[in-house]
Amino acid sequence: MSEKQSINFLRGVPAEEALSRLIPMASEGYEKVIRRYGTDVLQYGHFSGFKPLRDLIGSLHHVNPERVIVGNGGLEVISLFFKSLPRESNIIVEEASYDRVVLDAKVYGHHLIGVKLTPEGVDLNEFREVANKKAVAAFYGIPFHQNPTGINYTEENRKDVERICREHSIPCVWDICYQALRYDGKTNGSIEVSEWGPILTSSFTKTISPGTKCGYMIVPNHYVGHLSGIIANTRINPNLPTQAFIADFIESGRYDDFVKYLCKLYRPRMEALNAALHSQFPGAFPVAISGGFFAPLTLENISSDKEASFIESAKQGGVGVAAAWDALAPNCKEEKRKKGLFIRLTFPAYEPDKIEWGILKLKEIAERLA
Ligand SMILES: Cc1ncc(COP(=O)(O)O)c(C=O)c1O
Repeated sequence: MSEKQSINFLRGVPAEEALSRLIPMASEGYEKVIRRYGTDVLQYGHFSGFKPLRDLIGSLHHVNPERVIVGNGGLEVISLFFKSLPRESNIIVEEASYDRVVLDAKVYGHHLIGVKLTPEGVDLNEFREVANKKAVAAFYGIPFHQNPTGINYTEENRKDVERICREHSIPCVWDICYQALRYDGKTNGSIEVSEWGPILTSSFTKTISPGTKCGYMIVPNHYVGHLSGIIANTRINPNLPTQAFIADFIESGRYDDFVKYLCKLYRPRMEALNAALHSQFPGAFPVAISGGFFAPLTLENISSDKEASFIESAKQGGVGVAAAWDALAPNCKEEKRKKGLFIRLTFPAYEPDKIEWGILKLKEIAERLA
C-alpha cells in the first residue's frame, strides 16, 4: 500500500458521494418549496419551526405537533434546552458524550455528572446513586450508536433509565440522531413518548446533510411555552427554506430511500473498521459497532507523556487523530486518562481499504512509541 495515503479519523462527516447524490434532489427540492410556499418561508415567522415539518415529525413520533420544536440542527435545540434550565444545574451525562454538548452545557454554568457506560447502556447502579444524592435538572444520553463509544443501549437499559428519571422527576433527554443509521441489517426499535417524556432530540445532519443543518426536539406540553420564549429571544425563526425542503423530502418518500442508501454504503466501511480494530487492537475495542458514525479506541501503551508524539507521528504518517478528552464528563476524566490515550474514530467517509490501512498505521505507531 502506498505511503502517500492519508485518512482523517477525526471529523464525523458524511461521505462525499452521498452528498453528491443529494445534489439534484436538494436543488429540485429547494426550488419546489420556495415556489410552493413563497414568502411564507422567506419572511420571519414559525419560531418553533416550519409547521408542515413539525406536523410530520409529530406524526412520526405519535405526539401532538405543538410539542415539536424544529431548529437549526440538533446541537442548537440541545443548547436552547440547556439555556432553558436554571443556571448551574446538575445534568447527568454518559461518562463520554458528544463533545460539543459537553462544552455547550458548561457555557450555561451547568455541572455535568458522568455515569459509567457498559455494553448495555448506562450503569444503572451509578445512575440511581447520583439521582438519589443530587438535585438533577436533566439527563442527556445517546442511546443509539452512541457518540463516541458506538454503544447501542439495550431496550431494557433504556427503559430502566427512563423509569429512574421518572421516579426522580428528572427530565430524560434521548438524542436519537443515529437511530436510523444502523448498518448490520437490523433496525433499531422506536422510543415511545408519553406526556411526561422522554424528551427526544434528533438531527438530519447525518441522514441528509450537515450543510442543511436541521434538528428537532420533542418536549412535554407544559415545557413548550418556556422553551419557546427562550427560542424567540435567541434566534427568532430558524432556516425555513431548509425545513420546507426536508418536509417535502420526507413526504415524497425520498428521505427513507436515501437513508436506506446510506446504510448500504456505510455497512462495508463499518465492517472494515470493526475487523481492523479487532485484529490490530484486540481488547482495546471491546464492542463491535453496529451503526452510527463512531468507534472508540483506548491505546493503553500511550500514556499522557506520549500523547502529543503519538498524534504528531500519526499526522506525519498521514493519519488524523486527536485525543477525545473533551468528550468526557469532568468527574470521569482522571480515571479514563489513567487507562491510556482515548480517541474517537470515524469511518463513513472512507473506503474499507483506506480504513484498514489507517488502523494498521496507528498500530505501527503505537508499537513504535510503546
Ligand atoms: C449525538 C449528536 N447529537 C447532535 C449532533 C449535531 O447535530 P447537528 O449538526 O444537527 O447540530 C451530532 C453531530 O455529530 C451528534 O453526534
